[in-house]
Amino acid sequence: MTEIQIAPSILAADFLHLEKDVEIVNSYADIFHLDIMDGTFVPNISFGFPVVEAVAKKALKPMDVHLMIVNPEKYVERFAKAGASMISFHYEAAREKSPAVIDLIHSLGVKAGIVINPDCPVESIFPYLPMVDFVLIMSVFAGFGGQKFIPESLERIAAVKAEFERIGRPDVPIEVDGGVGPENASLVIGAGASILVAGSAVFKATNPAEAISRMRG
Ligand code: DX5
Ligand code: ZN
Repeated sequence: MTEIQIAPSILAADFLHLEKDVEIVNSYADIFHLDIMDGTFVPNISFGFPVVEAVAKKALKPMDVHLMIVNPEKYVERFAKAGASMISFHYEAAREKSPAVIDLIHSLGVKAGIVINPDCPVESIFPYLPMVDFVLIMSVFAGFGGQKFIPESLERIAAVKAEFERIGRPDVPIEVDGGVGPENASLVIGAGASILVAGSAVFKATNPAEAISRMRG
């Protein structure tokens, strides 16, 4: 059985007490999910290198950088240097440049992931499935934390899972991001996801450790 990994999104953390929330991930979760937004690819700006580097100083778990930016190839190297061991970029921001971005991420010794928003046909990323180390399926539109999970995402996860099986790569992880929490974790896992990103469901919970453990199912 595939191991389920929980990736709390630092976007929902308490930035005045960031170390406390970093320790929650170190103690109870598996991966740091770091959302990078540029105000152009998405209508919001999150945080940049200083925050990623600060988290890196205390992180005992791998750092997964989710780039919601135009021209992702310009910044991949700096995020690798800042300590990312997984970097994902949006297919919508790279299109035919996607293989080059994947190669660049790999050349830095980092795992490469491709991301799609809910309105992008899943088939668009099928040509790249032989190359990537993981796929990230957005279950809300990228740009903001705290949105409601879009139920049709389940079929999209299942479609990517089926295509990975068809090409003989059944163990490549599928990550799901947006509106995920204890109430729908079993559904996304059932559809084929094995890395669950959760911002609000972890950091806004009264008991984050319990929320994380409930998501593992
Ligand atoms: C949205 C981000 C998500 C977000 C998830 O653009 O990619 O990672 O922080 O937040 P929740 O879990 O609150 O939907
Ligand atoms: Zn994200």
